[in-house]
Amino acid sequence: MFRKLAKLLRDPVGVLSRRWMTMVERLRFAGGGDYRTADYWNYRHGKYGFDLRGVGDKSKSHEENVKLLEQGSRVFLAVCREAKIPFRRARVLDIGCGTGHFAEVLRNNGVKDYLGVDNVDTLFQGLHARLPGFRFEQVDIATQRLRGTYDLIAAMDVLQHIANEEKFAFALENIRSHLAPSGTVVISTHLGPYRREAFYFIRRPLEAFQKFFPGFAFSTPVAYADSFVFSLRRNQKRASAISSRR
Ligand SMILES: C[S@@+](CC[C@H](N)C(=O)[O-])C[C@H]1O[C@@H](n2cnc3c(N)ncnc32)[C@H](O)[C@@H]1O
Repeated sequence: MFRKLAKLLRDPVGVLSRRWMTMVERLRFAGGGDYRTADYWNYRHGKYGFDLRGVGDKSKSHEENVKLLEQGSRVFLAVCREAKIPFRRARVLDIGCGTGHFAEVLRNNGVKDYLGVDNVDTLFQGLHARLPGFRFEQVDIATQRLRGTYDLIAAMDVLQHIANEEKFAFALENIRSHLAPSGTVVISTHLGPYRREAFYFIRRPLEAFQKFFPGFAFSTPVAYADSFVFSLRRNQKRASAISSRR
């Protein structure tokens, strides 16, 4: 409350014009407890391109968002290190790849086998040019089945943007069923008591994720900006039982 008031006093025109924009966007894209996901992200990526306000905090500048994402990369890498992810030989799926920030982090850390999926292909041309050898496909994780099996599935700041509970369940089952038996999922999301923060954004408690991954061990979430990063993997006994059945 105090933070919101301080922001309003510091930048009244900016705060009011963003409020106005959000209202217009809600009228354009939201309805029936959900929103037209592809139209919204197509609009947002079309408006900002590779400026990080497109995937980050619209109230901050591109440069401020760069700093936040750099912090996010450090936390992401620390969580991956703790989970002992073998980047060089891992089959990696990056869900909601956006501007390719985590694709670049993964490439710089030795990943060769990378597939980025996003529900819109607006930025794919630029991503192909910047990251030759990496693959990109248009997939809506909340409504379309994935293909393949992955050793690392990263879902960085995307699952909070699934604003419908049936779609959220579909997305998490989609992730679980395409994870290799000893694979790891790394998620970055806004954790906390369940709350619809905006028409395109829901904050959920950790239990909302745990429910879909019985028999998985979750790491302790680590904070970065307004998000938390955590990993999950099958308990070892269960993973070896699954691989011996294959
Ligand atoms: C907040 S941005 C995060 C981008 C990137 N992961 C990062 O952290 O820089 C969310 C991204 O997820 C994509 N997205 C939103 N809903 C999606 C869905 N249902 N399936 C796949 N991608 C989705 C958006 O187009 C956008 O690129």
